[in-house]
Amino acid sequence: MSATEYNVKQYVSDIRAIVAAETDTKAITDRIKPLAKQLAAAPGWMKDEYRGVDEKQGFGVHLLHEEDNHDLAVFVLTWMPGRGTQPHNHLTWAVVAGIEGEEYEEEFERVDDGSKPGYAKLKKTGDVTLRAGDVSACTPAAIHKVWNTGDELSISLHTYGRHINFTGRSEFDLENDAEKPFVVSVEE
Ligand SMILES: [Fe+2]
Repeated sequence: MSATEYNVKQYVSDIRAIVAAETDTKAITDRIKPLAKQLAAAPGWMKDEYRGVDEKQGFGVHLLHEEDNHDLAVFVLTWMPGRGTQPHNHLTWAVVAGIEGEEYEEEFERVDDGSKPGYAKLKKTGDVTLRAGDVSACTPAAIHKVWNTGDELSISLHTYGRHINFTGRSEFDLENDAEKPFVVSVEE
């Protein structure tokens, strides 16, 4: 890595300045997106271990940075072929930039009123495929399902306003219209 190459430390420093200057979620993610794309495009900071996966969960979650209070968390996510998540929300903003392979994403909206504990009715609203060089953002309430539909590992850079295991977020079971807490296994 050359001294001038964009790196995780500089990325975190830039994000700290953005969240200090902006309060609107979309304004924050709009400003982070080009930086995430830049970091993902020159992954000299990547380590071989970031290609590791948790076979039980189907993907590897590699923590690059979080603040002491769990805010501003940056991860590499590595998806096994044919594996992914159930639909889930984040309850914080998210920016995802593709590094390698393909990440297929289905988007949903919630059509129940959220008043019945453990129950959630979702409706699919769209889908998109994220590849190397692509970058996308999610609002805190957005619900998506992420899947590696390719034959190779899919690797992407994920940046969140708060560490995903500290937001109280949910995953959703489409067959049973159920909502439950979503906590992932993280490599540190
Ligand atoms: Fe997600």
